[in-house]
Amino acid sequence: MTDPRIVTSVTGLRDALGGIAPGLVPTMGALHEGHAELIARSASETPLTVVSVFVNPSQFNDPADFEKYPRTLETDAAKAGAAGASLIFAPASHEIYPAGFATTVIVSGLTERWEGAVRPGHFAGVATVVSVLLNAVRPARSYFGEKDYQQLQMIRRMHADLRLPGEIVGCPTVRSCDGLALSSRNARLSPQARGDAAVVPAALSAMQQAAGSGVRDVARLEAIGRDRIAACPAAEIDYLAVVDPATLEPVAQLDMPARVITAVLLDGVRLLDNMELRPGQA
Ligand code: PAF
Repeated sequence: MTDPRIVTSVTGLRDALGGIAPGLVPTMGALHEGHAELIARSASETPLTVVSVFVNPSQFNDPADFEKYPRTLETDAAKAGAAGASLIFAPASHEIYPAGFATTVIVSGLTERWEGAVRPGHFAGVATVVSVLLNAVRPARSYFGEKDYQQLQMIRRMHADLRLPGEIVGCPTVRSCDGLALSSRNARLSPQARGDAAVVPAALSAMQQAAGSGVRDVARLEAIGRDRIAACPAAEIDYLAVVDPATLEPVAQLDMPARVITAVLLDGVRLLDNMELRPGQA
């Protein structure tokens, strides 16, 4: 298989597409198996898959994190090609943010709690770059992982509100064999913390099981998850909440399918995860 072609400008991309509305997988690079699944799904559902690789400065709270973010374009291109991508769109910064760029996209409500509360400006940076990318690429379908659930729901809202092109496709979280959600952050865990990290999906699965066997009181469900995580003294919960899947507002009773979302700090690494909770019969 030949590596996909890398284009760095919007005009180069449009020429390469020749009028085809592609599948788009937006990324910041450092591709892992989770991205590969998004690319493979796009390749199976669209005539041509574009993977964008752009480390977006406006979504980093700390400029040092932006500088340190891994930039591995050649290996990313090879991985994307192996998963089925035909084109890599790796724009220079001025292609996304030309001189004089002065627009910020803010999705209110959905972005204020949870990750938004600890990362001011982060979601505005994501919303802005994703809207620029969707207008530049004009995809038929764009693929995002459910792992970053708040991001996905914000993008869905923005896409509907601004009538951006194509369709947004949310794809299930890809997990390693102990259940940990794949993330580029996992590489920063020490071997000990990597072992401990399995407590996060285990806690959410325990809540799923309890919900399925009829527990509807959300305080009880949350206590089950929190107790499970507390068994690992190194893990610190930032939030663990059962929320409405569309608005991300907390719910008190599991009368309809909901989502448990969590952020847990382990070894200085912020681990995000979420799962669907479906009410079952007692
Ligand atoms: O999820 C990511 O990797 C980024 O937030 C995204 C959607 C590519 C925007 O920079």
